[in-house]
Amino acid sequence: TPIDYPISLDFDAENGTFEPCPQVTPRHLSDLKEMFSDQSTVAQILRENDPLIYEIRYYPFTTTKSDMALAVTRIFPGTIGNEFYMTKGHKHQREDQPEVYYCVRGEGFLLLDTLEGEFRAIPWRAGVITHIPPMWAHRVVNTGNDLLVFIGVFHLSAGHDYDIVARKGFAYRVLSRNGKPELIKQD
Ligand code: F6R
Ligand code: ZN
Repeated sequence: TPIDYPISLDFDAENGTFEPCPQVTPRHLSDLKEMFSDQSTVAQILRENDPLIYEIRYYPFTTTKSDMALAVTRIFPGTIGNEFYMTKGHKHQREDQPEVYYCVRGEGFLLLDTLEGEFRAIPWRAGVITHIPPMWAHRVVNTGNDLLVFIGVFHLSAGHDYDIVARKGFAYRVLSRNGKPELIKQD
């Protein structure tokens, strides 16, 4: 239901949580298993358990005339094989829908890819704000030993295309070599 009066949330930047929070979506390995390069390690892990890779907390600021939304994502530290934990990644379905991302805590990369030849890997740490133009697929990778927290502001009507990312993939992966992140080109 639309709410046409101001709403404020109590945000805990250390934890990446806020109150009140109407929706929490967990993403376990099984939810993004096809995104990781090392499929034999994925299968091996899933035989034993299904680790939580990240969590998204949503707040829809729906009014009678607008559909802005807030999402706070907490990516846990870790790797699958030698690939760092990351978001599934998606492109917005509508071609006129950008997004603003703000890294609140942690370190890693924001990967941006048109899936048509243009790619950027933005080194990400607390304090960096990035505007994601329409038609750029986006994924965040946690390369640190600690939680990575970021805020996304977008329109609910943007829509999320995960399939195109699953089909085409990002141009580069972020892999751990001796604990250090390396960008590796995909063929
Ligand atoms: C919304 C947005 C973020 C992501 C979230 C999780 O448009 O970009 O809120 O949805 O960071 O990533 P995905 O959606 O790729 O699982
Ligand atoms: Zn998005």
